Amino acid sequence: MKATAKAHTNIALIKYWGKRDESLILPMNNSLSLTLDGFYTTTSVEFQNDLSADRFYLNGQLTEGAEKHRVTAFLDRIRAAAGEPDAFAEIHSANHVPTAAGFASSASGFAALAAAAAKAIDLSVNQQQLSILTRQGSGSACRSVYGGFVEWEKGKLSDGSDSFAIPVASADHWDIRVAAVVLSSAEKKVLSREGMKRTVNTSVYYPSWVDSIPDDLAAIKDGIVAKDVEKVGEIAEANCLRMHATTLAANPPFSYWQSTTVSIIQAVQDLRAAGVPAFFTIDAGPNVKVLYTPDYEEKVRNTLRNIAGVHDVKVSKPGEGISYI
Ligand code: DP6
Repeated sequence: MKATAKAHTNIALIKYWGKRDESLILPMNNSLSLTLDGFYTTTSVEFQNDLSADRFYLNGQLTEGAEKHRVTAFLDRIRAAAGEPDAFAEIHSANHVPTAAGFASSASGFAALAAAAAKAIDLSVNQQQLSILTRQGSGSACRSVYGGFVEWEKGKLSDGSDSFAIPVASADHWDIRVAAVVLSSAEKKVLSREGMKRTVNTSVYYPSWVDSIPDDLAAIKDGIVAKDVEKVGEIAEANCLRMHATTLAANPPFSYWQSTTVSIIQAVQDLRAAGVPAFFTIDAGPNVKVLYTPDYEEKVRNTLRNIAGVHDVKVSKPGEGISYI
């Protein structure tokens, strides 16, 4: 049977940074994100009797190597759960995520893949089970099962059965904007997977990072309910800076920032000094995302566009969770 699913990417306001189990992808800390309507992946999966291996097409190109392996390894989990170890599939995935914007397409990619594959192999899962499955493809992807503001509960159990996403507020709860600031040249030297591992193992700041999460989470959830952009923005910014501080204290130390990253941070701080409630957050790369309310759309866009080293600004609204096409 064939099934097609669509999933949006998400931006973490409280970051997932560090795993306690690499294989099952179990995090050290809870995280919280906003699903974005502008960036998504559509994936179709068709299990075919005449196939002896999976065939994975990404944006029309047949893939090989590491890219294909990550998908096949993930489908192995779906096959095992469905009790169909010899069912192989043709997979077509189209990313509408500008990779240059520094959004990991793995979040929308694994959410769409998990949903389409589970449906195509006739594995009946509820949303919680789907989030658990998706998590095993890429951690941040488990939050993309739902729209709007979403928390990922780290869980305690070693089998990961209590580590899944929970919706906090729907996409229509709050009309807020996220601008993805695309840098002219953005090369990522340390992958997020490698970066978080090095940080957990060597950063002297890592224990403080973990300790800081519960207070951030409680406060940001209050801010989301109250639609308080200052509160949400200030917590998200501080949380982002703390995550990046852990990389500076790792061994060997590293940073995802480039000079333009710092210019954008300063421009956002200047906007705030001028009375514009805009706040930044940064994932495992040099690009910056800016959170603001729609009444400041023009001012924020124009300011960001005019920074030297900025190539483009792509604005998104809150998005919905997984849908089937
Ligand atoms: C900095 O979900 O891409 O974006 O679980 O190893 O696939 P894996 O990592 P991934 O890491 C995302 C890290 C982050 C913060 C976040 O999205 O919460």
